[in-house]
Amino acid sequence: MHYLDNAATSWPKPETVYQTMDQSFRSLFSPKRGTAKASRMGASQLQQARQTLSELFNIPAPERISFTSGATHALNVAIQSYPWQAGDGVIISAVEHHALSRPVRKVAREKGVQFFIVPYTDAVPFDLEVYETLLKTHPQIKLVATTHASNVIGSILPVAEIGKLAHQYGKLYLVDAAQSAGVLPVDVQAQCIDMLALPGHKSLYGPPGIGALYISERVQLNTFMEGGTGNDSGKHEMPSHPPDGIEVGTIALPQILALAAGARWVHETGLRQIHSHETALLDSLLAGLGQIPEITVYGHTDTAHKTPVVSFNLLGQDPKVVGEKLFETYGIALRAGFHCAPMAHEAIGSIHRGGTVRASIGYYTQPEDVDALLSALKKILTESLSPI
Ligand SMILES: Cc1ncc(COP(=O)(O)O)c(C=O)c1O
Repeated sequence: MHYLDNAATSWPKPETVYQTMDQSFRSLFSPKRGTAKASRMGASQLQQARQTLSELFNIPAPERISFTSGATHALNVAIQSYPWQAGDGVIISAVEHHALSRPVRKVAREKGVQFFIVPYTDAVPFDLEVYETLLKTHPQIKLVATTHASNVIGSILPVAEIGKLAHQYGKLYLVDAAQSAGVLPVDVQAQCIDMLALPGHKSLYGPPGIGALYISERVQLNTFMEGGTGNDSGKHEMPSHPPDGIEVGTIALPQILALAAGARWVHETGLRQIHSHETALLDSLLAGLGQIPEITVYGHTDTAHKTPVVSFNLLGQDPKVVGEKLFETYGIALRAGFHCAPMAHEAIGSIHRGGTVRASIGYYTQPEDVDALLSALKKILTESLSPI
């Protein structure tokens, strides 16, 4: 199999991730509950996992990180637990994933929150002037929320500049780092990020079912779920501070420790090394696709502002059919369709095409995988052009 679906879930994982998952599942107990030594050891490793993530993202206090079931859960906690008043506002971008846009639409529907969408065009991807005008003219805006990079076209948003503007106008900044954590530098202090949503299973190379939410001292959230925290058990009311206010119930310790192993692997491998490997393959994929006139590549192709995610279509062909053929006939695993981000497809003009075929590169992708995709696409085009 040629695996080109790393924007969905990275595969394979570093060996240490598999080992940590297996060992911790066998030998550690959930912290904060039992009296066994395995529970105390679990507690100390949990603390170490928070420390590892805080170092990777320059988070000032590890206890401000709460583990969630993924980026979707983290974004829902951040958006739905914010103490909204009717008439408050939030700015999002035109390339958001459902994980961010659907909770925003829900608070709009149910709590009377207004949302503003900053448009995307290939020529002017994310206009800072639009952000500034919105912030200047709508004082009721409380939150700016963006993905760090589009999961459809890989376009990188200028998060540091957006964060600076949000803070200049006294607003909070929420970043969905699903497509950037482990790919691009993410620094909550330098980029003025008040809330950071992280997935475990993408470029942090952890398992599925785990993620994290960082919230800064500036943010006060209501609780999202109520239940046991293992601390303050004698009290009737739930604490709302992180991590206890978010980590309700028995936590997924093996997944958390495996995620931390993935994050350590990213740190040890180095973002520079990961970036240079992935960008070299991205360049060759874009160059190869550019030589096939029947293929349209969406979004800008400036690799300095793009993660290794490429969306394209073949002339006259349904992306879903192409995706299926790529796997069934050529063993190439990727994704086709809307990728949970229909606004992005409206912005790039692929909504009426049924979305796009999306290839995404990870650290374990090899040049042969890119070559296999290019050669399969040429064959599919030849077959479709030859008379029956
Ligand atoms: C931009 C973006 N945000 C959020 C998510 C959801 O992440 P998770 O699977 O960790 O819930 C994804 C996953 O595809 C994504 O691409």
